Amino acid sequence: MKSLKILMIASEVVPYAKTGGLADVVGALPQVLQRMGHEVIVVMPKYGSIDVQKHGLRRYWNSLGVWMGNALEWCAVDVADNHGVPVYFIEHNNYFARPGLYHDDNYNDYEDNPRRFGFLTRAGLQLARDMGFAPDVVHVHDWQTALASAYLKIWHWNDPVLGGAASLLTIHNIAYQGKYSAAHYDYLGLGWQNFTPDKFEDYGAINFLKGGIVYADMVNTVSPTYARETRTPELGYGLAPFLNNKGENYVGILNGVDYSQWSPEVDMLIPARYSVDNLAGKRICKEQLQRRFLLDAAPNVPIIGVVSRLVAQKGLDLLAAAIERIVNDMVVQFVILGSGDKGLESFYGDLPRRYPGRIGSYIGYNNQLAHWIEAGSDFFIMPSIYEPCGLNQIYSLRYGTLPIVRATGGLDDTVQQYDERTGDGTGFKFWEPSPHAIYYTVGWAVSTYFDRPHHMAKMIRTAMQQDFSWEKSAAQYVQVYERAMRNKAAL
Ligand code: ADP
Ligand code: GLC
Repeated sequence: MKSLKILMIASEVVPYAKTGGLADVVGALPQVLQRMGHEVIVVMPKYGSIDVQKHGLRRYWNSLGVWMGNALEWCAVDVADNHGVPVYFIEHNNYFARPGLYHDDNYNDYEDNPRRFGFLTRAGLQLARDMGFAPDVVHVHDWQTALASAYLKIWHWNDPVLGGAASLLTIHNIAYQGKYSAAHYDYLGLGWQNFTPDKFEDYGAINFLKGGIVYADMVNTVSPTYARETRTPELGYGLAPFLNNKGENYVGILNGVDYSQWSPEVDMLIPARYSVDNLAGKRICKEQLQRRFLLDAAPNVPIIGVVSRLVAQKGLDLLAAAIERIVNDMVVQFVILGSGDKGLESFYGDLPRRYPGRIGSYIGYNNQLAHWIEAGSDFFIMPSIYEPCGLNQIYSLRYGTLPIVRATGGLDDTVQQYDERTGDGTGFKFWEPSPHAIYYTVGWAVSTYFDRPHHMAKMIRTAMQQDFSWEKSAAQYVQVYERAMRNKAAL
């Protein structure tokens, strides 16, 4: 096997900056590729929120010149080591020194986002070029860095360092496309001849993701089912025709998860460790979770956990419409962790006061609590309207916390439906996006808990033995890289 050189550019990377699963993926995948013998470097912004000391960032370059439109702009570059993978940080204080990644405290998107991420993308390519790092593949993620595939073809076609690079664009969420006023177009330097509906132009605005899809040598998303769903008008959010144009060059690869961070045998963030053969620690985690959220201390009442961005995608408005009926009718507790939509924040934030001892919630972002909820709950609910992959339900499986999910995207691919005759399966699935369906499926799970404990035990065992480690997915990424290289070579 040929060892590949891979440049990844991304807007968030664990452990430096994270708002969602994208960061988990770009944190973990490069390490696995590296262990397989490939050489990977990662480029991301130096956000104001990054703890320079804690993560050991060092100055790498004092000045990197980047052409934006027809002006040369300067930035500095830091570097840190992420378990053997060098991660480079673009320091451009006007763009990145603020604490938020994409928006301010009130969830207002920064209005210069197209410039910030256009700059990041060009700087990432320029850095590789100036370092003499000649990638076989440039692998970029979501709209923020999607333009790399276009820059490679528009600007770097004959470049001695970057000219040979093929590109892969990974779509983690097609609803976020990076649509911005054409007033930013000159700055991005993409050439007005390319401002056409088949490339960047979208009803008069710029569409980053669309252009990225058109120019990329390969495109993938993060589960096979979501790859199929995004080829349809309902879930393609206007880009289905462009994905269908890619033909076989658009595929789905399920995300892996990092079991060194997310498994109850080794998790040092949770109150006690446990394994499939000894679940005693899980009972301690449940007891502690009940205590921390001021829930009734009741070892035999099932807890349903939620860890989520509070946005429409996640279907938590549907849960909001069902949850009170659920706690009024069933013997069950809820623990909810999340932040996002202000309306949902105030609804879920107020529930513990209204249902003391039955519902606990924490509005905000807290990684330790996320681990506590995965470990201490009996069930984990994700009623997503769509879900490209979803990581939490995969974590839940490993923690023996059975997922209750809407059968969409990666949720459908990773959770096996409970079979009431045999006790096979790993969770509870429903199809209809409604409070009604949530109510009945939660009822099904709760009745299984009380009435068929032997099935619960069997499912917990099956769930904990599922293997979604990165090795398998990384091997598929390598195949896609090689295909991207063949596609590029054939141009
Ligand atoms: P998405 O990327 O759409 O948000 P994923 O399920 O892929 O969904 O990934 C979500 C990741 O973010 C998980 O690692 C989850 O634990 C984490 N997460 C989401 N919200 C919070 C929160 N409020 N506190 C801590 N972790 C969170
Ligand atoms: C996105 C999706 C989520 C996916 C994650 C990582 O944020 O919403 O489903 O797991 O990206 O690929």
